[in-house]
Amino acid sequence: MINTGIVFKKPLALNAFLKNGLLILLLLFSSLSFGQTAEAEANFAVCKACHTIGGGKLVGPDLKGVTERREEAWILRFVKNSTEFIQSGDPVAKQVFEENNSIPMPPNNLTDEQIKDILLYIENGGKVAGASEAVVEQTPKPAQDELESTMILAEKKQAEAQNLYITFIILSVLIVISIFDLLVSKILKARWIHVVIMLISVVVIGEIVFLESAALGRQQYYQPEQPIMFSHKVHAGQNKIDCKYCHFTADESMHAGIPPVNVCMNCHSQVKQGKLTGTKEIDKIYSAIERNKPIEWIKVHNLPDHVYFNHAQHVNVGKVACAECHGPVEKMDQIIQVEDLSMGWCIQCHREKEVQFADNKFYDQYTKLHQQIKSGKISKVTVQMIGGDECQKCHY
Ligand code: HEC
Ligand code: HEC
Ligand code: HEC
Ligand code: HEC
Ligand code: HEC
Ligand code: HEC
Repeated sequence: MINTGIVFKKPLALNAFLKNGLLILLLLFSSLSFGQTAEAEANFAVCKACHTIGGGKLVGPDLKGVTERREEAWILRFVKNSTEFIQSGDPVAKQVFEENNSIPMPPNNLTDEQIKDILLYIENGGKVAGASEAVVEQTPKPAQDELESTMILAEKKQAEAQNLYITFIILSVLIVISIFDLLVSKILKARWIHVVIMLISVVVIGEIVFLESAALGRQQYYQPEQPIMFSHKVHAGQNKIDCKYCHFTADESMHAGIPPVNVCMNCHSQVKQGKLTGTKEIDKIYSAIERNKPIEWIKVHNLPDHVYFNHAQHVNVGKVACAECHGPVEKMDQIIQVEDLSMGWCIQCHREKEVQFADNKFYDQYTKLHQQIKSGKISKVTVQMIGGDECQKCHY
């Protein structure tokens, strides 16, 4: 039992000893239970769009070792409102700003405690104290070569479609000319030539119509003009902004969603011109804000209404990378639909794709499959085996 009355009567040395002990205990306690909390990880998610811890520079500098190169008080001011800090004339802040292409860091509504918590999290190499390795997020790396060939294929197919179209027109014109000559102008005397030309044309046109109608309603390689020349290459490629910084609902909802204009303003309240388009395109963001109207982006990927598709299920549960379905978006100035989004495409992946079955609470219900794995009857579980080719899963 601690009795404060007794502590007061202790000799001075012991008193100081107790005080220090208490302080150390308090410090230990605070760093164990208040420091490096899961909250820090959640707060750092915002920073992750522009910073890594030991992974190199993104939009902003690598934050590994930042607490060694800067004073804590400096960091607190910088993180809360870097622009104000830079304008106040702090030389270091100004230098960091200029070293990073004068891209401003958006202000943060965090308390001192929350920022210190984030700093502990950074010192700990981006891990919550005591958390298991499994929690650390792993971003799947798409195979670059494969992606590049997808783009080349996309361009080739686009050219092919164009050729088919031109062939269609030429053959149609040939038929018309043949009929005209047969009935009116009669330049060619041998009638069989008309017949051969018409027969071949009809057969080839039939083939083209058959090919095209199979893809009717689908829009592979669709690439509409957008109201603002927004470039994924500039944002996700050159500035390495995380897809989920803008498409922030992809993890937990059906739609990946298009970011509202205030997300653009996080950066463009400060970044007022671009290297390619100057102020022309970015000004459209400001006029959308002024008119208080959303930007009317044109949807590129469209499934028919009778199909159910859920992003969270694929991105979060299935751990399918965006690039597997959307191609190398970070290389595209303008978004293009690289897959045909056909039923065959969905099913083919479901037949081949393995689900990460072990240690995943979503699959606990499949006890029979778990038993089969244990007994060695099957070596892997595909999406199809958990019902990924049942009609009602994809159709309303
Ligand atoms: C939109 C991008 C962006 C976001 C989000 C962002 N930062 Fe930054 N940060 C930068 C840039 C760019 C710099 C370089 C300084 C400058 O240009 O103003 C920077 C600099 C810093 C620095 C100084 C680094 C050094 O070497 O001196 C710290 C510390 C920092 N950021 C912490 C954070 C924290 C913590 C968060 C999350 C709460 C965060 N940043 C979110 C872009 C960002
Ligand atoms: C398994 C394939 C697949 C994966 C993985 C995937 N998408 Fe999609 N995405 C689609 C399909 C299919 C559509 C069309 C949906 C519709 O029309 O209902 C779409 C639509 C979209 C749209 C348009 C808006 C919307 O929500 O419908 C955006 C933006 C988008 N995806 C971004 C992403 C991002 C970012 C990722 C990664 C985090 C991602 N997608 C991962 C298949 C996928
Ligand atoms: C995390 C920061 C960030 C966000 C969010 C952001 N941008 Fe940008 N944006 C940049 C940077 C950095 C540049 C490059 C400036 C340069 O060219 O040096 C840029 C450039 C641009 C450009 C000009 C490209 C050029 O080179 O001419 C346009 C247009 C643009 N952004 C539109 C948008 C729109 C629309 C949104 C919202 C959907 C948005 N941005 C969201 C950081 C951001
Ligand atoms: C700075 C914000 C920002 C970032 C970062 C970003 N996007 Fe987008 N994304 C947009 C905007 C705005 C649109 C709508 C305009 C357009 O289609 O280009 C869009 C459209 C899309 C579409 C087409 C949606 C449709 O209409 O069908 C896909 C797919 C997509 N993004 C995927 C990605 C992927 C994958 C990444 C990461 C590699 C990513 N985005 C990173 C802002 C962003
Ligand atoms: C690149 C691979 C891939 C493509 C393409 C793909 N999926 Fe999936 N899909 C998965 C994976 C992996 C899962 C497993 C996630 C899970 O267990 O919920 C899944 C699960 C599903 C489920 C849930 C199945 C169940 O039994 O719970 C539905 C519904 C679904 N996908 C619909 C679609 C539709 C519709 C399309 C086409 C527009 C599509 N998927 C394209 C990989 C893919
Ligand atoms: C993995 C998801 C998935 C499953 C499972 C699935 N479908 Fe589909 N289905 C689609 C998609 C996506 C489309 C639309 C794209 C297209 O036109 O090919 C579609 C289109 C269709 C169409 C319309 C075809 C057309 O040309 O408009 C019919 C009919 C259909 N499905 C029937 C079925 C039946 C029957 C089953 C069960 C044996 C089934 N589907 C299972 C995803 C699926």
